[in-house]
Amino acid sequence: MFKGKTYIITGIADKHSLAMYVAKEIIKNKGKVICTGLGVSSFHKNLSERAQAFLNQSYQHFEDSVEAELGKDVETHILDVTLPESINDFCQKLKDKNQPVDGLLHAIAMDKTIRNKKVKPLLEVNFDEFCETMQVSAFSLVSLIANLKAFDLLNPGSSICSLSYIVAQKVTFHPYRNISIAKAALERITIELADELGRQNGTRVNCVRFSPYLGSKAGTATLNSSDVEFAGQKSPLGNAHPQDLAYEVAHLLVPDMRITGEIRHVDGGYNIMG
Ligand SMILES: NC(=O)c1ccc[n+]([C@@H]2O[C@H](COP(=O)([O-])OP(=O)(O)OC[C@H]3O[C@@H](n4cnc5c(N)ncnc54)[C@H](O)[C@@H]3O)[C@@H](O)[C@H]2O)c1
Repeated sequence: MFKGKTYIITGIADKHSLAMYVAKEIIKNKGKVICTGLGVSSFHKNLSERAQAFLNQSYQHFEDSVEAELGKDVETHILDVTLPESINDFCQKLKDKNQPVDGLLHAIAMDKTIRNKKVKPLLEVNFDEFCETMQVSAFSLVSLIANLKAFDLLNPGSSICSLSYIVAQKVTFHPYRNISIAKAALERITIELADELGRQNGTRVNCVRFSPYLGSKAGTATLNSSDVEFAGQKSPLGNAHPQDLAYEVAHLLVPDMRITGEIRHVDGGYNIMG
């Protein structure tokens, strides 16, 4: 399915990351992946000791997990989407290796207004918190693609997919507030880019809304098990599994298809319920 094709996989934190399931599915179907992880880059300035230790540990987990789950030969890079220089440097490294790509999985999200599973009310979110969440979780899709295009690394007919959640559209049992707005922006960006990139480059841009999932670091940090159980009971098929997501994303990444601008659901049918 992916023979001779190369995909960038962002958002692997550890073996439980949703992005890891997608990477495995691509490799299983003979594709190549290039994985990016959050870590300390030469562009970080004035990092506190704590922040440096956090980023170093994150990168170590990422590298160890990629090696253990995907193999020693998988190419890895540091990428922090809050730093334009880091995005630029990542693309420069691909360019130096003459490595264009056939697609990208965007699986990046962060919202500091959710702490210890507690969500800050929107009226208490300040402008910096709003912008930071928006930059990491939504605008990063634009900046990543813009850089790939500027370096002429995005093959014609390539395919891009990002990950979202029902909160982009509806207030749910677990109101997310700030990140919900960023997810709504991510989905709108998907649609605008589907038009722009489809016409310019034959590139498809789609997004998949997934069930609540406790397994990942992001899920553990934001969700209660009661939320996940509630969603599972409300969904006709129960919550979707990460492997369901991997099949759907792989399908959207398959070369030479004409599906774009879709906001898909892989959620056991949760979205059809009132
Ligand atoms: N877990 C869920 O319930 C769930 C449900 C639907 C959608 N999603 C989405 O799936 C995606 C992956 O989440 P996950 O559940 O696998 O969790 P995860 O914690 O494994 O992945 C989140 C990733 O975002 C990365 N990241 C955060 N800030 C970054 C930055 N500045 N630069 C680069 N990378 C950065 C982290 O390093 C991590 O790899 C996210 O977009 C998330 O919103 C998750």
